[in-house]
Amino acid sequence: MNKEKQGVLSLTESDSKGESRTLTASPAFIADRALDDSVYARATRDRLGYWEEQAAQLHWFKKWDRVLDWNPPWVRWFDGGKLNASYNCLDRHLEGERSTKPAVIFEAENGDSRTLTYEQLHGEVCKAANLLKSLGVTKGDRVVIFMPMIVETVISMLACARIGAVHCVVFGGFSAEALRERIEDVEAKLVMTTDDGQRRGKIINMKGIAEEALSAGCESVERVIVVRRQPDKEPLGETSNQGRDVDYHEAMKEMSTNCPAEVMDAEDMLFVLYTSGTTGKPKGVVHTTGGYMTGVATTHKGVFDLKENDIYWCTADVGWITGHSYIVYGPLANGATVLLYEGAPDYPAKDRYWEIIAKHKVSILYTAPTAIRTFKKWGLSYLEKHDLSSLRVLGTVGEPINPEVWLWYYKFVGGERCPICDTWWQTETGMIMLSPLAGLSEMKPGSCSAPIPGVKVSVLSRSGEVMEWGHNGYLTVSEPWPAMMRTIYGNDNRYVKSYWSHWPGIYFTGDGARRDKDGFFWIIGRVDDVINVSGHRFSAMEVENALLEHPAVAEAACVGKTHEVKGQALVIFVTLRDKNAPKDEVISDLRQFLVGRIGAFARPDEVYVTNDLPKTRSGKIIRRLLKDIAEGRAMGDTTTMESSHVLKELYKG
Ligand code: WTA
Repeated sequence: MNKEKQGVLSLTESDSKGESRTLTASPAFIADRALDDSVYARATRDRLGYWEEQAAQLHWFKKWDRVLDWNPPWVRWFDGGKLNASYNCLDRHLEGERSTKPAVIFEAENGDSRTLTYEQLHGEVCKAANLLKSLGVTKGDRVVIFMPMIVETVISMLACARIGAVHCVVFGGFSAEALRERIEDVEAKLVMTTDDGQRRGKIINMKGIAEEALSAGCESVERVIVVRRQPDKEPLGETSNQGRDVDYHEAMKEMSTNCPAEVMDAEDMLFVLYTSGTTGKPKGVVHTTGGYMTGVATTHKGVFDLKENDIYWCTADVGWITGHSYIVYGPLANGATVLLYEGAPDYPAKDRYWEIIAKHKVSILYTAPTAIRTFKKWGLSYLEKHDLSSLRVLGTVGEPINPEVWLWYYKFVGGERCPICDTWWQTETGMIMLSPLAGLSEMKPGSCSAPIPGVKVSVLSRSGEVMEWGHNGYLTVSEPWPAMMRTIYGNDNRYVKSYWSHWPGIYFTGDGARRDKDGFFWIIGRVDDVINVSGHRFSAMEVENALLEHPAVAEAACVGKTHEVKGQALVIFVTLRDKNAPKDEVISDLRQFLVGRIGAFARPDEVYVTNDLPKTRSGKIIRRLLKDIAEGRAMGDTTTMESSHVLKELYKG
């Protein structure tokens, strides 16, 4: 290794894209890390053997017969193997010292904390599993979990996994309508929710949202479990449906802490998680048990160089894939201590994250570029008040991170001693696919480095040729990987069409990327109509379909615009049925309408009212032109002619 590069930036070659700046971890970090370089060679030499070794680190009731059955795009990993995800996250840690080790440290927004050891978490999960069983939930049934970042959400997920029920967590920020759509698509038998959620000191009535969803359809739902947040409140409140609703805390009192884990096939469904695609209908991404657990446990340990005494904090919401894979299943399978925070980064003050890190001596922090950009904007004074010396490893996920923001994170949060893992992956991939392995790989600020061991990706041209370094192309995965999604719930055709129809046997991620001459990957962003706002995925069409439900709207289009903090911001264009309608009123109404229809995170930054939208001859809206307008690029180039009639009439609110 080049000594000069250790712990400092190497700026030997100038490159405007920052592609020659490399960093390595300190010698002390390297000396202490579990894996060495040979892991890459090991995985390349015998990829399937490598994954078998990883799978063998889990607990199996019965070993698999075949490591991989690949009939593109249909896949079976560890076929014939029997295991249980909840058993792997809990029971196997109960012998020895881990039983009294904290599994989850919960930090409430108001500063209250609560710790559950592995033994305690196991007891709670068994009780909740027995509760689900007592309400008639059996293997294969779907349970929708609409809850905030509280311990009971983790307990509920593991309780489902324990009895073989399929959980479908719906992010707590979704509207009643979005929740209804998901409950109906997955045909949930039972819904779990809470009376309240808390955010910035305000109480969010989650049960009310759930009730609204349930009253609008959801025929499949037989029972609703309500977790009570406020002990002094009436158990089920006025809106409760007596025959249907169950008070979680009351019912849990009667439940036994003994519940044997259901023996599941490696390919049995573990969960469904909805994400946005290019059409208006969200996709229920299906993940199964053996491959998923192998993928998330391996990557959580290997990427972050997990040590027994680490205090690991992932700031994602448990309602997104990052929460599933790297708050719940990966870390708990590895017997880690996980910090769970219900609250905002700026409440009660803008130093809340740093206060939490100092209070709990967090050693691994995994967060999103949007959060880091926000912290950078707020300034250093908030960090400087707190002791961040417990931090050892940093991670980012969800969006590209700009090199200067990466460097800020490295310098001021990590004190120039913590490797940063910029992890690229997706709801569909289930696990991290590209990232440096902390301390092992060289890092380039802004690059997610290279595929992790056992994963093969390529940047391809439209016709399927591998792009030369330095050239943009489509990011694809060329070999199956254990945690890959298996299908879209109830829609195999859409699965094949969305991901496997571009190049035979090759998975298309929807992202553009390029490789540099050193083999580092640089993600350009989505090349489809998916918009990424603060790491939240939106389908342009999903937003447009919602807008079309508004009585004032005749036509609608939605695009993403570059945003300094959020990465992208939602911009919408509408034409109105009544051209004389008061525009400002309509615009403010539309913003509110989208919040009600999708969720508060879908509030658009800009709304344009126009008399016309640019369309192709076949009548398809040309979003590319609208994007140019939103970005302020529409003047003076070839697009001007096509968009001039739109520009002329534009009214911005
Ligand atoms: C984007 C989140 C650049 C990408 C785990 C991907 C990233 C989408 C990165 C998936 C990264 C995720 N650098 N872009 N490190 N990580 N993305 O399903 O466009 O919510 O396709 O999964 O986020 O978003 P999803």
